[in-house]
Amino acid sequence: MKNFERYTVTTALPYANGPIHIGHLAGVYVPADIYVRYLRLKDKDVLFIGGSDEHGVPITIKARKENVTPQDIVNKYHAIIKKSFQDFGITFDIYSRTSMELHHRTASEIFKTLHDKGEFIEKTTHQYYDEEASQFLADRYITGTCPHCSYEKAYGDQCENCGTSLNATDLINPQSVLSGNTPILKETKHWFLPLDKYEPWLKKWILETHKEWKPNVYGQCKSWLTQGLQPRAVTRDLDWGVKVPLDGADEKVLYVWFDAPIGYISAAKHWAQENKKDWTPYWKDKNTKLVHFIGKDNIVFHCIIFPSILHAEGSYILPENVPANEFLNLENDKISTSRNWAVWLHEYLKDFPDKQDVLRYVLTANCPETKDNDFTWKDFQTKNNSELLAIFGNFVNRTIVLTNKYYEGKVPAPGDLCQLDKETLKALEDYPDKISLHIANYKFREALSEMMNLARMGNKYLTESEPWKIFKTAPDKVRTIINISLQICANLSIVAEPFIPFTAAKMKRILNLPDLNWQQAGKPDLLSPGQTISEPEHLFEKIEDAAIEHQMAKLHDAKSANEQNNRVVEPVKADISFDDFQKVDLRAATIIEAEKVPKTKKLLKLTLDTGTGKRTVVSGIAEHYKPEEVVGKSVCLVANLAPKELRGIKSHGMVLMAEDVDGKLVFVSPAHMISNGMTIK
Ligand code: 2FM
Ligand code: ZN
Repeated sequence: MKNFERYTVTTALPYANGPIHIGHLAGVYVPADIYVRYLRLKDKDVLFIGGSDEHGVPITIKARKENVTPQDIVNKYHAIIKKSFQDFGITFDIYSRTSMELHHRTASEIFKTLHDKGEFIEKTTHQYYDEEASQFLADRYITGTCPHCSYEKAYGDQCENCGTSLNATDLINPQSVLSGNTPILKETKHWFLPLDKYEPWLKKWILETHKEWKPNVYGQCKSWLTQGLQPRAVTRDLDWGVKVPLDGADEKVLYVWFDAPIGYISAAKHWAQENKKDWTPYWKDKNTKLVHFIGKDNIVFHCIIFPSILHAEGSYILPENVPANEFLNLENDKISTSRNWAVWLHEYLKDFPDKQDVLRYVLTANCPETKDNDFTWKDFQTKNNSELLAIFGNFVNRTIVLTNKYYEGKVPAPGDLCQLDKETLKALEDYPDKISLHIANYKFREALSEMMNLARMGNKYLTESEPWKIFKTAPDKVRTIINISLQICANLSIVAEPFIPFTAAKMKRILNLPDLNWQQAGKPDLLSPGQTISEPEHLFEKIEDAAIEHQMAKLHDAKSANEQNNRVVEPVKADISFDDFQKVDLRAATIIEAEKVPKTKKLLKLTLDTGTGKRTVVSGIAEHYKPEEVVGKSVCLVANLAPKELRGIKSHGMVLMAEDVDGKLVFVSPAHMISNGMTIK
């Protein structure tokens, strides 16, 4: 394996249209920061890149909803996100943004180079166009009826009811979100990146030369490559983004996934400008190792599309690795911004000020490295109380307290070593390499666990040696024990730094240590005899049950409030006359039989007792009720609705239902039992 000295480490650029939550931190930013801090401790030359992804349709939709400009939206969230990263100690060299002119120029130049080399395929397609708004419609700007499940508010790219991916032209009764009108199909020209042409090269580059990539990443690439790649459009008809730098393309911008990864290059230029440095070695020198930290939903863009762009351009290096993580769940449920099921970073810090390291620790321990993982508040409490406090903090605190108590805060000189001392020092020597190996292989959970094992070893060593019992009888021995314990603390301040940097800095301050590098870790003489240390300070404190209960309540309250807000209260329909109302014949009835209509997801065939006989009604409630649950229910029947055939069954009427806050259908029933057949008026 090559021993790289220069690294360009990038982290997915979050969309600047909302704050960030623990899922982002666990999957991308904490692992990347651990990796970078470790490399810096090894004196490597690292450029650590982050920034905001400020283009794309969702940002324009949010701006429209809030009646502000897209630039207002990204300005607001760029600042919030940037601050969250600073607060959690993510040590970016630059936190840039893609709305900068420098980025627009960089992305345009790369597009132009590919265009001039004749890489793109130009194609004319037909796309929906809103004549009133005089603009083409992005998929999210079109709604209509899903051809699969008949949901009426499906988007042009996906039906959120049944989850099917759609093309806008699949929608039944398409409507423009902008004007409510039916859009027309209009010709438009776009530029396509010929991924099929790069496929043989990609297969060789990834499948043969990057077998060491994580199985989840390699597997996803393999699946894409074996299914076969198609040309991808890299331009859009939109007015927010990087303008397509070609004549006659005034109303078009680059596709957000074309420009966003180029943002990593623009960010390097931004850093170079601010620091009067040269950015080119970080992107053009073959001896630089480029590593992209991302979540699993970004794999295809970082392993296939962006490398194809770089390969076609020809002068940039390609990623050496793309250690993508899976997703983090919260309390066994998917983190969701729209459902407000998340722990927001800025809110965490309000509730747990100065406890950044606790969250960094817990998120690393639960990092979704190989599969989706779960964050629970109970586990957060346990990891704080039983690991950080009871093991790490307790060991360091006892050592500092004893040094102050026995030796007035001066590091004692060690004497002769017993077997346990020798074994302890040997283990101490081995820990840094064990931790290194895991970090170098992107196994941050295992690295963290070894770091904690070192603290555990220190704690056990002190407990077993019991210096407090032999202080009077064996003072030489006690000096050795305290010296060794202090050396372990000093070592911990180095190897813990990538994971819990705020604590490591505090430890260095208490131990009066200078900045040490990774090469010094493992040594038994980081602190010299006679050197003074400071008074003890608590590194961690107990998290009480009440704090955890508060978080759980907050989570559930936020979710319910969100559900209340999202309740769609439809506008009242146009007035009807009393005579019209009188035409509707509503009757009390009871369901006496129910069965599923075969080969449908939604339909139940109901048999109703109507007081004067039986009748069949087909009802779309099968996703909400099992047949046996509805038998015996009193219902309100629209008795004179013209019969209609549904899946070969004639339905005579309709059972009235309403939707509750969770979207579940509930029966509209009389408050008291009334006889079947009675009219409802
Ligand atoms: O998925 C996302 O949040 C994207 N904004 C990530 C972009 S990564 C890179 F390409 F900029
Ligand atoms: Zn659907």
